[in-house]
Amino acid sequence: MLRGETTRSIEKLEDSLDYGLDKFYINDKNNDLDHYSQMEIILSNKGYQDINEIGKGGSGIVVSASKNNDNRVALKSTICNPYSSSIETPWEILNMEAKNLEFLHDKKVPNIVDFYGFESAFFDGFYGGFLELELCKDSAFDKEVYETSELVNHTLDIADSLYYMHEAGLVHGDIKPSNILMNYSGKVKLVDLATARKPRKFYESSPFSPGVLAPELFNTTIRSRSGDVFSLAATLYRALTGENVREKSYESIMSPFEAPTAPRDLDVEISGGLEYAIMSGLEAYDRPNLGEFVELIEKSPESVN
Ligand SMILES: Nc1ncnc2c1ncn2[C@@H]1O[C@H](COP(=O)(O)OP(=O)(O)O)[C@@H](O)[C@H]1O
Ligand SMILES: [Mg+2]
Repeated sequence: MLRGETTRSIEKLEDSLDYGLDKFYINDKNNDLDHYSQMEIILSNKGYQDINEIGKGGSGIVVSASKNNDNRVALKSTICNPYSSSIETPWEILNMEAKNLEFLHDKKVPNIVDFYGFESAFFDGFYGGFLELELCKDSAFDKEVYETSELVNHTLDIADSLYYMHEAGLVHGDIKPSNILMNYSGKVKLVDLATARKPRKFYESSPFSPGVLAPELFNTTIRSRSGDVFSLAATLYRALTGENVREKSYESIMSPFEAPTAPRDLDVEISGGLEYAIMSGLEAYDRPNLGEFVELIEKSPESVN
C-alpha cells in the first residue's frame, strides 16, 4: 500500500473514533476497508513489518509480523461478525481470551500458546484490538504431515494440558484440529482460549463445532470436562480417518447421539487398542474421564513414550 493511502486510511479510522468510543459500537458507514486491510494499517502504524495473513477462524483473523527485528509473532484480532450469535463486542471477546491466557500461564498449565500482550485498537466500526502470541505453524493433527504415533503423542500432550486446565477450574470448550497447533520448536500448543470457561455454567453463547462437539452439549451453551474428552477423541478420529464424527448434513446434526463408524471399518490402519480408546472417548453415555481416556491411549501400541 502507498504511504499516502495509509495516512488517508488512518485519518479515516481516526475520524470514525469521534463517533463515541465509550459506546463500543460506532456506526462507521464510511469505513469500506476489509478487516485485514485495517489490521495492516493499524499494525504498521504500531511499528510491525512484513505482515502476512496466516489464519482465519470463526471469530478472528491471525497475521504474522515482526517488530524491531525481533522474532516474528502472531497477532489475532476479532472480526465483528454480523451473523454471530455472540452478544459480546470484539474487545470483550479479546479481553476474555487475554485474561484466560494470563490465568492459564499463571497456573502453569502446559502447552498453552505463549502470550505476549493485548492492545486495543479501533476496527470495523467497533472497538477491538490485538492479542500478540507466539507464532505457531499448522495444525498438530494433520495426517498428511504426522504419523499415527505422532498424532497419538499430540493427543497425550493436549490431554496433559486439559488435565491441568480442568484442575485450575476451566474447560477449553472448543477442542478441534484448527485449535491445536505445532510451534517452530516442534511443541504442541493449544490456541483459541476466548471461550475457555467454568464447566457446567450457563453462558450466553458457546462455540458450536458439530463435527467434534459432544452430543449432550448440542442444545445447550454449557461446556464440560467430559465434553473436552469427547472433542479430543473426535480430533484424533478426524486426523486418522479424514472424517468428522458427524457430517455437516441436516440428518447427522439432528441425530448427534449416533456413534461414528469405527476407524478400522474405514480402512484406517490402527491397532484394536487405539480404536477402542478413540471409540470410548466418543461414547455418548458411558465415556471415560480424562485420566481413563489417557490410560486407554497409553495402553495402545501406537503410544511410544
Ligand atoms: N499463534 C498462532 N500462530 C499461528 N497461527 C495461528 C495462531 N493462532 C491462531 N492461528 C491460526 O488462525 C486460526 C484462527 O485462530 P483462532 O485463535 O482459532 O481463532 P477463531 O476463534 O477465529 O477460531 C487458527 O485455526 C490457526 O490456523
Ligand atoms: Mg479457532
